[in-house]
Amino acid sequence: MMNKYARITGTGSYLPPRRLTNADLVSQLAAQGIETSDEWIVERTGIRARHFADAGMTSSDMALEAAQKALQAAGVDAAEIDLIIVGTSTPDMVFPSTATILQGKLGTRGGAAFDVQAVCSGFIYALTIADALIKAGSASKALVIGSEVFSRILDFKDRTTCVLFGDGAGAVVLEASAEPGILATDIHADGKYTDILCVPGHVNGGQILGLPLLRMDGQAVFKLAVGVLDETARTVLAKAGKTEADIDWLIPHQANIRIMQSTARKLKLPMDKVVITVDQHGNTSAASIPLALDAAVRSGQVKPGHTLLLEGVGGGFTWGSVLLKM
Ligand code: ACO
Repeated sequence: MMNKYARITGTGSYLPPRRLTNADLVSQLAAQGIETSDEWIVERTGIRARHFADAGMTSSDMALEAAQKALQAAGVDAAEIDLIIVGTSTPDMVFPSTATILQGKLGTRGGAAFDVQAVCSGFIYALTIADALIKAGSASKALVIGSEVFSRILDFKDRTTCVLFGDGAGAVVLEASAEPGILATDIHADGKYTDILCVPGHVNGGQILGLPLLRMDGQAVFKLAVGVLDETARTVLAKAGKTEADIDWLIPHQANIRIMQSTARKLKLPMDKVVITVDQHGNTSAASIPLALDAAVRSGQVKPGHTLLLEGVGGGFTWGSVLLKM
């Protein structure tokens, strides 16, 4: 049986307890001869602090914490979940997926569980797939999660990248509903941009070949990001028959405050309609949008009935957006 809509009924998130302010990170890097400053980081990115997971804490551990909060908020028992999708580029293992490991930790069985690898667009991709599966009648209650331990793939000798990222997880429960719900989705990729943002290392015969650390051409990423984010925002609004004026909150991928300001400016949205957590979380890749959504729900910014535009961009290159009613 087809379902009319898929609707978010609960949100949750998790940040590992170890919090590093810019000052903490600056002094840690200085001890290794790497020079940076709070001023540079704040001015270029808007980031003031990030959380790093301790050794031993994995993406599935953080996903479990976020999922349990989302289930509680939705009033749904884990046993009712028939679909788990985790957006992550920092999975626990090469295989099985972080989603199946999470399913084991939740103590449930039978429903589909898999990961989506779309880097910082991972949550947008995951939400789009879950929406489609619910509308098709293939699932009825889904956990959609972004969870990342980017601290594990950062090169702390590269000041142009190691100051930008953090760890965390965010989750939503998405349920079949007669009421909206997700109004429209839009996802894209352009595979010719592998080199501007990647972790080239891979497992081969018991060894890691290539550098297993993040490499980024920041300026190339910046230029591409502002263009595609504007494009996908307009596309998803048109698909839903809505305009910029219908948006109550823009929840963009939290990579850089300047990218978010540019997106808002192009959509003629004032910055007080943009949810911002990059200052406290840094860039948590696939976790950044659900982390920001949960923060905005729990602070009372986002209310039932509000129209939200979520949009992401990341390695691949991948990008996309979801327009929804809470
Ligand atoms: N501290 C101090 N100085 C630094 C640092 C640092 N941490 N990093 C770079 N610099 C220096 C550079 O060496 C350069 O010095 P130079 O002029 O003497 O050569 C100077 O600062 C300027 O460097 P730029 O790279 O030109 O700085 P820019 O203004 O472009 O900012 C940044 C860099 C923040 C990375 C920006 O390009 C950006 O935000 N890009 C988008 C990145 C992004 O959003 N990535 C994530 C999207 S996808 C995903 O989330 C995985």
